[in-house]
Amino acid sequence: MALPRTLLITGGAGFIGSNFVHFLSHFHPEVQVVNLDKLTYAGNLKNLEGIPLDGSPTPAGFRHTFVHGDIQDRRLLAELFVRYRFDGVVNFAAESHVDRSLQGADEFIRTNVLGAHELMRVCLEHRCRLLQVSTDEVYGQLMPDEPPFTEESPLRPRNPYAATKAAADLMALSYFESFGLDVVITRSSNNYGPRQFPEKFLPLAITNLLEGRAIPVYGTGENVREWLHVEDNCRGIWMALTRGRSGEVYNLGGRDEVQNIEMARRLCELLGVDPEQGIRFVRDRPGHDLRYALDSSKAKRELGWEPQWELSRGLEELVRWYRENEEWWQEIRSGEYRKYYERHYGEKID
Ligand code: NAD
Ligand code: TYD
Repeated sequence: MALPRTLLITGGAGFIGSNFVHFLSHFHPEVQVVNLDKLTYAGNLKNLEGIPLDGSPTPAGFRHTFVHGDIQDRRLLAELFVRYRFDGVVNFAAESHVDRSLQGADEFIRTNVLGAHELMRVCLEHRCRLLQVSTDEVYGQLMPDEPPFTEESPLRPRNPYAATKAAADLMALSYFESFGLDVVITRSSNNYGPRQFPEKFLPLAITNLLEGRAIPVYGTGENVREWLHVEDNCRGIWMALTRGRSGEVYNLGGRDEVQNIEMARRLCELLGVDPEQGIRFVRDRPGHDLRYALDSSKAKRELGWEPQWELSRGLEELVRWYRENEEWWQEIRSGEYRKYYERHYGEKID
């Protein structure tokens, strides 16, 4: 597509979405952004610090307007499209945590499937490109000796979160085939970076260690995740949005596969904590996918994308960010989060 002038970003007060807004403000300030977010427990306006919310320009000329609302709100979407005439939508809005989806999937179905479908409808009506942000989890799990997933691998999601993301991917591709919706899907591996909500493994581990608690490692800790710095993901999403072929899927993998136990040890080392004290094995997550790994050669070939962050440096920077932004995560950890933590981890510790 031609370079977008006006973008609708959904879920832009969450982890990856807010990093994408910061990415645009630095590298593409000419793009005008409307950011629609429901501000669930995971959405936080502090993630947008330094960026005006009312459309007034930054010194670089970047304009960002925050709209508090739900992607399921058809009338609101219609109004926004008439008012701003978007030429692209990037959908980050989601319920994103596997453990919460195991406690109840209603909200996951509503936002990740029905909400995503509303965006497909409105994009089709206005002939607007939709970038659907998806995940490696739609492919299910890999065994240690299997080759990484390609975009052709079958979808075999194994937890409710992953199933809702797969459902949205399939709806989007069906809209491409049936109606010609201009849609591109990115499937990234596990992201890490600043402003990630501390329910996810790395920020939970780091903030626990900073508070003198242990890292709860599920099961034996042999599960493998492939880590991608959020800035690399944001660059990949931008490239897929602007250069990707309609109806195509692009894997964005981080290359670095690490067992959880190894990751926990590395974090203990970075924070100067004895792993004997800093790691505690807890009851496993049901249906815990053993391994994710992506073959990202298509993104390299077609988009010219490759991850640039090196994991060791990324982890050092990550620890530094959480050390320097204690106020940000202390506020989260003192609220509803505390109840979630007690409920979830209390019952895991036999
Ligand atoms: P997040 O939970 O940090 O943020 C989600 C944001 O969406 C929040 O700001 C929330 O308020 C908003 N939101 C939720 N429901 C909404 C609704 N109905 N309407 C409008 N806004 C709503 O999630 P994240 O980690 O930033 O993930 C963003 C996207 O990337 C998700 O689609 C997720 O599936 C995908 N993804 C994440 C990862 C990862 O490692 N975090 C990896 C691959 C893919
Ligand atoms: P998570 O950050 O929840 O992402 P995902 O489930 O989408 O991969 O978890 C990353 C890995 O860390 C996963 O294998 C589960 C594991 N994990 C723990 O061992 N302990 C924890 O407290 C959490 C949240 C995750």
